[in-house]
Amino acid sequence: MTQFFTIAIDGPAGAGKGTLARRLADHYRLNLLDTGLTYRAVAYALLRLGLPLDNVSAAETAARQVDLAKLDRAVLSAHAVGEAASKIAVFPTVRRILVEKQRDFARTPPGAVLDGRDIGTVVCPDADIKLYVTASAEVRAQRRLAEIESIGGTANFAEILADIQRRDERDMGRTDSPLKPAADAHLLDTSEMAIEAAFLAAMSVIDDVLAKRNKA
Ligand code: C5P
Repeated sequence: MTQFFTIAIDGPAGAGKGTLARRLADHYRLNLLDTGLTYRAVAYALLRLGLPLDNVSAAETAARQVDLAKLDRAVLSAHAVGEAASKIAVFPTVRRILVEKQRDFARTPPGAVLDGRDIGTVVCPDADIKLYVTASAEVRAQRRLAEIESIGGTANFAEILADIQRRDERDMGRTDSPLKPAADAHLLDTSEMAIEAAFLAAMSVIDDVLAKRNKA
């Protein structure tokens, strides 16, 4: 491996990229950053202060204060925080501050797996491996529903689906760093693929790149 081996994983909410990123980071012994948490941390700070989500200067201040070592998934994973995150994520100045932190993280040896929306296109355009993980909105909504029900909760499929579609629109439609596959990304559609199969498919892509590199 080179000094900073980088695996970039992008895709819409609920496609399975988080689980895949964790499996790959464990397997290849790389650092792991869920960049969604950085946008969530900014949104959470504004919500906690009771500030509107279009207060750009407060969002910039919150972005500067984000400490990657202190991202609390338990607090930040709330659904409302994800919604709010996609609203502050449209501001270019906020993105610039967070992207700098994400790049520093990626450059720390031995390298990292980063997952998000713009990793292969903006944060790490020179990543060694780029994966774009997707699944149909219906499959993602079904998975989310199963997840909620597995912990004893109840939810409505149509509402979850509408939520996912709204988030997709916001993430794919924004002007700065919209969600889209990098030109050189490997596409993994997990609509009809269990996470284990996606992991094996990703490993085969990565091992191919590593084998070629070791021969060179
Ligand atoms: O992945 P997660 O659902 O935690 O992301 C929350 C929101 O943060 C996304 O809907 C997206 O708007 C934003 N985000 C982003 N760029 C990233 C990661 C997340 O714009 N690299």
